Amino acid sequence: MSALESKVAFVSGGADGIGLAVVERFIQEGARVAVLDINQEKLAALQVQHPERVCTVCGDVTSYEDNQKVVELAVQRFGRLDTFVGNAAIFDYFAPLSRIQSEQLASSFDRLFRVNVLGYMNGVKASLDALKASQGNIVLTVSNSGFYPGGGGILYVTSKHAVVGLIKQLAYELAPDIRVNGVSPGATDTEMKSVEGVSRKSQPLNHIDGFHEKAAQAVPLKRIAAPADHTSLYVLLASNEQSPMTTGCVIHSDGGWIAR
Ligand SMILES: NC(=O)c1ccc[n+]([C@@H]2O[C@H](COP(=O)([O-])OP(=O)(O)OC[C@H]3O[C@@H](n4cnc5c(N)ncnc54)[C@H](O)[C@@H]3O)[C@@H](O)[C@H]2O)c1
Repeated sequence: MSALESKVAFVSGGADGIGLAVVERFIQEGARVAVLDINQEKLAALQVQHPERVCTVCGDVTSYEDNQKVVELAVQRFGRLDTFVGNAAIFDYFAPLSRIQSEQLASSFDRLFRVNVLGYMNGVKASLDALKASQGNIVLTVSNSGFYPGGGGILYVTSKHAVVGLIKQLAYELAPDIRVNGVSPGATDTEMKSVEGVSRKSQPLNHIDGFHEKAAQAVPLKRIAAPADHTSLYVLLASNEQSPMTTGCVIHSDGGWIAR
């Protein structure tokens, strides 16, 4: 039997990048998936590709109501919810504190932390009753920036450290009903967008000059990941059969930052 047969997941930021790879892998493993994303065009393409296995809400993770709509839709369409994957996030162009204009700092901080931290809390809170009912689980996307400096700028790195704290506290608060874990990717070939106000440029992560080479050279495994490289770990943590005693834990999928 497939690892997630007849399970139902909610994936935020599931229209592109790592989230999209997780959605496709969960479907391969037998799950049905409700996706919240801000990108209407990519959501529509996903819905066309998987009309029976996916339902979508176009919205913003910073809105609690948008998260609530996804949970309601998942339960209405697929009858239950077993896993919440918090994944949508934005980057900061590696901007150090010294390079952010003082008049921009508060607004960039507010937007980035609302998306990267409040967005996960909203998804968890909206999913709680349904996950308690299914004795389900939560998997949050962290980053090597949740543990080490230098893989992002001041805003992104501090927000991802906050996600590690969120995982530990939620694992404590939600035990024994709901397991809470994280997957921590390193540099991955995606078009992750950055928050406004920290750089005059506006380009996706994998368009930044030298991103591929510098990120590959920064880790012992000497390459950057494709989104699909991380997905087995999400399946493992979303499966109550495969990881029944694991909670409060983050699995690293980062090319070996710890071994640098
Ligand atoms: N790409 C990397 O190198 C890398 C490395 C480590 C961790 N991560 C983490 O992986 C996760 C996914 O990032 P990615 O690289 O796949 O980026 P991505 O931009 O390819 O995917 C993120 C998705 O989230 C959506 N999104 C962004 N803001 C949103 C909002 N406010 N509301 C709803 N949806 C929103 C985007 O439209 C997009 O579909 C993030 O948590 C990121 O921090 C990425």
